[in-house]
Parts: sequence; C-alpha cells; structure tokens
Amino acid sequence: MNKPSTRPPGTEPLALSIAQLDADPHGVFRRYRHLTPLLKRENLGYIAIRAADMEPLAFDPRTRQIETEQLAARGIHSGPLVELWSNSMLFANGGEHRRRRAPMSRAFAFKLIEQMRPRIRAAALAIIEQHLQAGELDFLGDFASAIPARIIANILGIPAADVPHFTELVYSVSRSLSFSYAPSEIQGMQDSAQQLMTYVDGLLGARGAALNNEFLATFLMTVSEAGNVSAAEILSQIVTIIIAGSDTTRGAIAVQVALLLQHREQWDAVCADPALIPGAVSESLRYEPVVGSFPRFTLEDIEMDGYLVPRNSILSLSTLSAMRDPGQYVDPDRFNIRRTDHPRRHLIFGLGVHRCLGEILARAELEESLAALVNRLPQLQLAGKPPSLQGHGGIRRIDGMRVQWASPRG
Ligand code: HEM
Repeated sequence: MNKPSTRPPGTEPLALSIAQLDADPHGVFRRYRHLTPLLKRENLGYIAIRAADMEPLAFDPRTRQIETEQLAARGIHSGPLVELWSNSMLFANGGEHRRRRAPMSRAFAFKLIEQMRPRIRAAALAIIEQHLQAGELDFLGDFASAIPARIIANILGIPAADVPHFTELVYSVSRSLSFSYAPSEIQGMQDSAQQLMTYVDGLLGARGAALNNEFLATFLMTVSEAGNVSAAEILSQIVTIIIAGSDTTRGAIAVQVALLLQHREQWDAVCADPALIPGAVSESLRYEPVVGSFPRFTLEDIEMDGYLVPRNSILSLSTLSAMRDPGQYVDPDRFNIRRTDHPRRHLIFGLGVHRCLGEILARAELEESLAALVNRLPQLQLAGKPPSLQGHGGIRRIDGMRVQWASPRG
C-alpha cells in the first residue's frame, strides 16, 4: 500500500465531481488506477481505487465503519432516516455492532435460508408463467424487483397484499445508501423511512403473528435472551435487512441477465449447462457491481503513495474499481463466466465484521431466478437498449429493462 513516492508527503488527491464520476465510473477509474491509489469526491470524501488496498484499509485500525457522517455530509441531521440508520448494525462499531448483529446472524441460519431456494425458484417460475403468452416483460419492474420483495416478505411473514406498497417504501429509503440523490429527494426519503418503520413496528406489534414466523421468532427469542437490544434497535435491524437486501438484489438480478444476453454465447452456454450458473452470478457481480463502494471513516491521517486522507474523512473503498483492477484479475474488462480468478471471498459482499449478512440469500435469489429463466425462456432477448447501472458508489441504480421472447417452450 505505501509504495515509495516522489510526491511531497500530504499531497491532495485529484478531485472529481460526482457528475464526472457518475458519467463513466469504469472509464474514470481505469484512467487513474495506475497513476494514483486515491481520488477525491468533491466535498464528499475520498475513494480508494486499487484492489491491493481494499483489505489493508478495511482492517486498518485507523479506519472504522461510518456512523451518521454520510447523512450529515448531505445535511441530514435528524428525522426518521437518522433514527433508522443510527440504530442499525450497518452503521455501528465495536460492541454496539456485535450486539445488534448477533441476533440477526442467528436468525439468518444457513438451513433456513437454503430452504428458501425452492420458494425463490417457484416465485420466478410463477412470474414467467404469468407473462408467458404476452411474449414480453418489464423485467426490472415485474421480475427483478418482485423476487427480493416477495422473498423478504415471505421470510418475515408479510401479507402478499402489502408487498407492492412496502416495496415502494423500501426502494425510496434505499436511496439514502447512495451518493447520487438530489437534495429535493430527501424529504420523500424521510417520509418513506417513517412509514416503513411504522409498518415494521405493526408487524412486530402483532406478536402472535411474529412468533408464528420462524425467522422473527428466532430473532426475537435471541434478542430477549441477550436482554441488551433496545426496541428501536430491534426495529432498525429488521428494516436494515429489508433495505440491504432489496435494491442490491434487484439490480444484480437485472444486470446479470442483461450481461448474459449481451454476451449471447455465454447465455447459450448457461442454458445448455446450468452448472455454469454460480460462475455467471459471480462474474456479473464483479463486472458490473450493484454496490459500487462501501464506506469507512478515518480516525487518523492515512498516507498512501504520498497522498493524504486526513483524519475525520469519509473514505470509500471502491468495489467497482478494485474488481476491474488488472493487478487482481486477468483481462478484467472482459466478461467471462468461466473465469477462475475470483477471490474466495467475493469483494462485492464487503470485508471484515460488516461483511454482508445476506450473501447466502442473495446468491440463492440470483442463482434460482437465473435457473428459472434459462430453463423456461432460453430464447430470451433484450427489448430495447440494454440497461445501465448509474452511480459510482454505494448502491447503484438501474434505469429500467425490458425483455421479449418469441415462442415459449411448452
Ligand atoms: C447482490 C446483493 C447484495 C450485495 C451486493 C450486498 C452487499 C453488501 C455489502 C458490500 C455490505 C457491507 C457494507 C459495509 O461494509 O459497509 C453488506 C452488508 C449487509 N448486507 Fe448485503 N448485499 C446484498 C444482499 C443482501 C441481502 C439479500 C441481505 C438480507 C436480506 C443483506 C443484508 C445485509 C446486512 C444486514 C448488512 C450489514 C451487515 C453489518 O453491518 O454487519 N444483503 N451487503
């Protein structure tokens, strides 16, 4: 990480605007990665862009997880968003983080989540059946958004009739995890956060219903045994898993299908051999990641290659840049589902104690939804222009995607 440098110590990294970064994130990072380990994002902190720096920075005791600094940097100092995120495991450190994460980790037992696989496949097949005769589908709205929402609703025992409204709220609040929202959107995000917390509070209030649900029963039992998790924290952890698992997975479901359809021979290969599905999922998550970076906060000055990140700064670790770094991947700008150089722990799910709690569920949703599509609609095609993922950091947004098919398999 600290290579000898001819630069005077403490040099300020090159600053780029959010618009410049968002316009062509892969191009920008490709241009600068071999020149500098760091870029500055206007007045919103620093971005580490090399693969070799991700792990050292994530485990560096001079960094910690951000708490409410990212919201404060956008002028959000109070209200439902602060209440939600300041009680969440996602933006906590040390003992507070462990206390909040432990009961949720237990509820996310491997066995329970693996049992969801047939339900995910069935949900995907049901959507395909429903649209089969039409020969076309709003893939983002009716497939990619529906799967994570239905599955988390299923896990939490949320009635099917509530899912559409609940989904709208979730996608609005999840905007607060990106860098690319306008100030005019903040009030709407605050209102959605309040409504979502009120909804989940009602779910927990119906205690009998909650205790009949295996996931919530395990979570609430562990919380009650531990005896040190407040009511606000209980609520926030549930809202956290709903939000952390929705926009991320919906974008990834859409992007992986779009990438495969744009590399037709690889789509056809997956149709012919579904054993290629896990590799296709991993490669799509690398090539066009739905989480562009994850944030940390610096407790001390950190110098990298002569450049300085001052203490008390937001430092984003760019998954988007690191996963295209030729220092880590052979031919990184080539989409290749047969690649064998993915690290054992895929960077898209983060590093260290905050590593994604939902990785197994996310992979199950991505693999099972793709399996249903290649099985039922091998003749699938993109309709119109391919979707693009917008944003360079945090959760990235997809702008819409339609698909079509000619004659359905019987
Ligand atoms: C493709 C889908 C997903 C991606 C790319 C993803 C990515 C990530 C990343 C990068 C982090 C670490 C953030 C950090 O260190 O600041 C994280 C944390 C987390 N994720 Fe995911 N995630 C996905 C799906 C899910 C799902 C399906 C769930 C649950 C339903 C989930 C629940 C969580 C939770 C609860 C955390 C916070 C863990 C903690 O702070 O200890 N994620 N995720």
